[in-house]
Amino acid sequence: MNLFTAIEQRRAVKHYDPEGSVSEAAFNQIMNAVLLSPTSYNIQHWRFIRVTDPEIREQIQAAAWGQAQVTEAAELIILCADTQAWRRDPQRYWANTPAETQAVMLPMLEAFYAGKDQLQRDEAMRSCGIAAQTLMLSAKALGYDTCPMIGFDNEQLAEIIHLPEGHLIGMMITLGPAARAANPRAGQLPLDELLRENRF
Ligand SMILES: Cc1cc2nc3c(=O)[nH]c(=O)nc-3n(C[C@H](O)[C@H](O)[C@H](O)COP(=O)(O)O)c2cc1C
Repeated sequence: MNLFTAIEQRRAVKHYDPEGSVSEAAFNQIMNAVLLSPTSYNIQHWRFIRVTDPEIREQIQAAAWGQAQVTEAAELIILCADTQAWRRDPQRYWANTPAETQAVMLPMLEAFYAGKDQLQRDEAMRSCGIAAQTLMLSAKALGYDTCPMIGFDNEQLAEIIHLPEGHLIGMMITLGPAARAANPRAGQLPLDELLRENRF
């Protein structure tokens, strides 16, 4: 599917075929595409939870105020991030670069992130957002639908998935064959209201 067609056809789909499935090949193709999403300094701090256990899905659905797609969709992926990834073996993030590059990048990373909690958090959310869009468009390109979700109790979800210290939850995404198309688009703002030249 053409990229622009996938962008136009991606919608937040709330109703899935409960008997539907995503092949392992398609799931892996989507997730491997997600891993090519950009991150600052290439730190790849996203961490993904694929929720396959029906009981855990039900617990998550309760934490998501009963939203049907949480249990109906073939797949549920929770996009998390390790806010401390910048200091966990960072040389891995430039493993294929020359030693001189690594020698420059490592202190830069430290200077950029150390002691800046809000920045670490912002960065994690930015990266989850970009990864989410890659996931949703890749899924659409393969004929599946998705719904990004933040409609859940963050603390409850963190407890259910045993979110480690220093990690956060960006969003969840449901994925699978749809049972019902999304409603018509709710109303898009015009470009000339949103795009300014040079300054606000
Ligand atoms: C970060 C994020 C969180 C969202 N959370 C939910 C959610 O919890 N439940 C839901 O039904 N839709 C959720 N949505 C879907 C939005 O309502 C939807 O994307 C928006 O209305 C635009 O519709 P479209 O995606 O079909 O173009 C969320 C979307 C985003 C981007």
